[in-house]
Amino acid sequence: MIAVLFFAASAMAGVEFQSADVRALQADDFANPGMLWVTKGERAWREPVATGAACQSCHGEASKSMKGVAAAYPKFDATIGRVVNLDERIEACRRVNQKAPALPAESEERLVLSAFVAHQSRGLPIQVSIDGLAKATFDRGAALYFTRAGQLNLACTHCHDRAWGKTLLNETISQGQPEGWPAYRLEWQSLASLQRRLRACFYGVRAEQPPFGDPDLVALELYLAHRAKGLPMSVPGVRR
Ligand code: HEC
Ligand code: HEC
Repeated sequence: MIAVLFFAASAMAGVEFQSADVRALQADDFANPGMLWVTKGERAWREPVATGAACQSCHGEASKSMKGVAAAYPKFDATIGRVVNLDERIEACRRVNQKAPALPAESEERLVLSAFVAHQSRGLPIQVSIDGLAKATFDRGAALYFTRAGQLNLACTHCHDRAWGKTLLNETISQGQPEGWPAYRLEWQSLASLQRRLRACFYGVRAEQPPFGDPDLVALELYLAHRAKGLPMSVPGVRR
């Protein structure tokens, strides 16, 4: 099995490193626990809020207007003036275009919208831009990916490029691809953002965890997305 994994040339989806029962959960929309968040997100998309119009009244049917959008994030946003991930782009839309109060990172209201919008890109290849105004953020992410951190003194690359397919504390280390996130993690009994997963990796090497929304996390997300170029999106993923 491990030899097969090491000879595989291209990017491999995270779910391929999960057990058969977890793979089955992700593959079946009726069993996939993450679909509950997607369904709630669809409701939120259609309903007006106290302070403004529904997402749908400006954007129309998400299956058309949001198709492929998530696959291009993180991306430089001219109105915000920096590289943002999808969740931050949606939050900016809520605050500016819906005049809604800010929501805390990782709150259910934010997760359901990101999951619903990202779900509209399911099956579509990740395709981000790292040129122009995104370049500096990409470079930062790439540098971080190869920088050792924490008491274990390991960089992302040590686990996700050099040790994928190996077992660590009962888990098979994957290539660390982002295509399934936000994903439902059984251990957390919740849908979770990619940033929450990355923070868990910082914790895993006993390094200080960057706070949600930290520019370093967004930079890593952009690096991961570029590295995963062409891999089909599969939100909501399911992980152990
Ligand atoms: C000590 C080894 C180790 C290091 C170092 C590490 N991770 Fe992880 N990472 C894991 C394990 C274990 C998991 C859970 C199993 C899996 O999916 O790989 C994981 C999961 C992930 C996932 C989710 C993959 C999926 O499909 O669900 C991403 C993305 C990720 N790591 C990125 C990173 C990044 C970026 C860094 C550096 C900041 C990093 N990791 C550092 C061990 C590590
Ligand atoms: C009043 C109209 C309006 C409302 C309501 C609105 N948006 Fe937007 N949205 C826009 C406009 C206009 C843009 C283009 C960027 C900009 O100028 O802010 C945009 C951009 C976006 C983008 C980025 C699209 C891309 O191609 O990168 C996403 C994602 C998004 N909105 C999601 C949402 C969600 C989710 C909601 C509801 C929570 C919402 N929007 C509510 C008008 C709106």
